[in-house]
Amino acid sequence: MTFDRSLKIAPSILSADFANFGAEIEAVEAQGADWIHVDVMDGHFVPNITFGPQLCKAIRKHINTVMDVHLMIAPVDPYIQAFADAGADVLTVHVEAGPHIHRTLQAVRAAGCKAGLALNPGTPVEAVAPLLDMVDLICVMSVNPGFGGQKFITSQVEKIRQLRAMIGDRPINIEVDGGVTPETAPLVREAGADVLVAGSAVFNGGSVSDPAPYGQNIRAIRTACDVLV
Ligand code: DX5
Ligand code: ZN
Repeated sequence: MTFDRSLKIAPSILSADFANFGAEIEAVEAQGADWIHVDVMDGHFVPNITFGPQLCKAIRKHINTVMDVHLMIAPVDPYIQAFADAGADVLTVHVEAGPHIHRTLQAVRAAGCKAGLALNPGTPVEAVAPLLDMVDLICVMSVNPGFGGQKFITSQVEKIRQLRAMIGDRPINIEVDGGVTPETAPLVREAGADVLVAGSAVFNGGSVSDPAPYGQNIRAIRTACDVLV
């Protein structure tokens, strides 16, 4: 994984067919996905349950791009090694997930993963200031985590802009997660985001047997951002 600020679309498999993850991942990669975003939820940190490290390990062999694992779990420290062993390239933890985020980020890098740090919509951008030299990616949540298909929270655009200024020339990707569509994507791209997570906006209308809509949906997000350059 090399660092750059080019636009990357990361479909979230939260909106894929849960009975067919391997084929869904292969289909969406063939249709132009840059990364695969994997939402891990525990029913405690967020009000929904998805899957754990065994599922991540099973789908790893179907991913040819980047496995971007978003941990919405607390506690998180006891599970870092298991998700690293499952093959996560990027392992993102929430700044709100525990009292010792500094130690958690050290553990993610020690496990050999790129370290991602996510902020809920209600968390101020200043929370990441002491941690900038410990992270490879910062994920600005533009919905309250837990579910796909929620409405984009517009106030997060300004947070992205402030974050972009804070980061300066550090090699840190800015990811945006939640409610990304062809309408909202240009707002976050212009503010400084480079990884756009999209669940429903990518998987809507397609399927493994009819994957062309995945490609159309990905291109619609890209094209909406292209007008900026
Ligand atoms: C929300 C997840 C997101 C979600 C995005 O808790 O972290 O990755 O799947 O879904 P959409 O794009 O449908 O908002
Ligand atoms: Zn996510």
